[in-house]
Amino acid sequence: MAPVLEKYQKNALIFQAKELLKVFRNSNPPVEVLKDLNFELRKKDTVSIIGASGIGKSTFLHIMGTLDRPDGGSLLYEGKNVFDYTETQLANFRNQCIGFVFQFHHLLSDFTALENAMMPALIQEMNREEAMQTAEKLLVRVGLKDRLGHKVGELSGGEQQRVAIARALCLNPPVLLADEPTGNLDKKNAILLHDMLMELNEELGMALIIVTHNMDLASYTARKMTIIDGKLMETN
Ligand SMILES: Nc1ncnc2c1ncn2[C@@H]1O[C@H](COP(=O)(O)OP(=O)(O)OP(=O)(O)O)[C@@H](O)[C@H]1O
Ligand SMILES: [Mg+2]
Repeated sequence: MAPVLEKYQKNALIFQAKELLKVFRNSNPPVEVLKDLNFELRKKDTVSIIGASGIGKSTFLHIMGTLDRPDGGSLLYEGKNVFDYTETQLANFRNQCIGFVFQFHHLLSDFTALENAMMPALIQEMNREEAMQTAEKLLVRVGLKDRLGHKVGELSGGEQQRVAIARALCLNPPVLLADEPTGNLDKKNAILLHDMLMELNEELGMALIIVTHNMDLASYTARKMTIIDGKLMETN
């Protein structure tokens, strides 16, 4: 089996979050946003996280993406606690295993759509030509064929969001974490995005965790969850 396919073996456990705790102590009184949170993600899983503003959805996603550290508990990826990694190992892990679509895009506004989308591949020292082709294909797939050479700062909000999605998918990550990916999209582009995410899940077994207020998008995922008292709960 080709190495690229091995990591997508069906239904194996990928992520295991155990008793996660996250407290924001800079607020007065401190806010326990996540508490005793347990969660498992298997290959090919599709999960949406819905619920009111401020319940901790982005906080949870940031910890799963190792962009923020919990104050307690552990996060295992294929059995290893990722927060035991050194900063360099963690950065590598993040680049190779996680695609992240942020609620606020964090793109480099002076670089073009193509340069932004190929950035993870360049960091991974992929051959420049190959990186460019991969990024271009993804940008075409999200409907930005005519915007490849545009600086991101000159794109609309929805276009920027689609560049962010192409960037997140650039290295075919086994896990895609998306925070409000349809927040800035019109209905047509939101449907295109839903379809693309489900196709990637079907084709590659890419596991999806999507934070969304969009119930249409949530209806596409097999698991629907929300956060109650700091814990992630299934809603169906
Ligand atoms: N850096 C921070 N410092 C202090 N408090 C924070 C910080 N980040 C988040 N919080 C608080 O933690 C809570 C959860 O925030 P989070 O961003 O996870 O919510 P959310 O569910 O993603 O909301 P939304 O739907 O509005 O994006 C909020 O009450 C927020 O004020
Ligand atoms: Mg949020």
